[in-house]
Amino acid sequence: MIIKGKDLSASIKEALKVRVEVLKNQYGRTPNLVVVLVGDDPGSVSYVTGKAKAATEVGIANNTIRLEDTISEAELLALVDKLNNDDAVDGILVQLPLPKHINENKVIAAISPEKDVDAFHPMNVAKLWLKQPCMLPCTPKGIIKLLHFAGVDIAGKEAVVIGRSNIVGQPVAKLLLDANATVTVAHSKTKNLAEVARRADILVVAIGRERFVTADMIKPGAVVIDVGVNRDTRNGKLCGDVDFEEAQKVAAAITPVPGGVGPMTITCLMENTVEAFVNRMNKQ
Ligand code: GUN
Repeated sequence: MIIKGKDLSASIKEALKVRVEVLKNQYGRTPNLVVVLVGDDPGSVSYVTGKAKAATEVGIANNTIRLEDTISEAELLALVDKLNNDDAVDGILVQLPLPKHINENKVIAAISPEKDVDAFHPMNVAKLWLKQPCMLPCTPKGIIKLLHFAGVDIAGKEAVVIGRSNIVGQPVAKLLLDANATVTVAHSKTKNLAEVARRADILVVAIGRERFVTADMIKPGAVVIDVGVNRDTRNGKLCGDVDFEEAQKVAAAITPVPGGVGPMTITCLMENTVEAFVNRMNKQ
């Protein structure tokens, strides 16, 4: 089975569109997302364009602020501060990576936690690990929704996450743990990686290397979630971290790239923006 993230994403967006319309009538305005993009990295431009398009589709007001990559850290921090204090802004997303002369940690920590729709702020990360109510990071949240969509009962399963990034590997491991999976986080220093991966009933791959996971690393009947977004060196097309053609012969279910995890990340960002809006409205 191919787990079509694009289809699930479309149906969630349809429901969200109705919700946004209702909220607009209730509160007199729609949720409002501001995306900040520094520089013109083609990957980042493409992500940011996708986020703006999805927001417009569901009726979320949105604005992308594009800045030269020569902007200083102080100027970027001043912009974040201005957005934090702007009552008409519900969600703030600063696209990563930032240029080397800007301290990413400092910028993330400057975003008001209640407007932090990426859930990257230390306060939101802490709440996730303490299992307190909080905004969930978009890609991990989307992965759990995909597993539910595919009918996977996570409790009691062996889950192996390959990759330990702050954005995907670590938080998805925590969400799988919270869903009662037995979780292993593997990474570049893991010994016998193929053997570890083959233990997985649920294999999540977020390592950023084309065809890194081959069919022999997958347990027959496993569910494979491919978070990778790479350029296929053979044909220039988008591809994931898993050798899809071979893997789908072994796996019970697998997400494609594109059309798997990617659309879910964007849709969860829309959900988070609506959640941030509702939380702010209920505080007033
Ligand atoms: N760069 C790669 N993924 C992401 C993401 O989910 N959010 C932001 N802000 N930047 C990213």
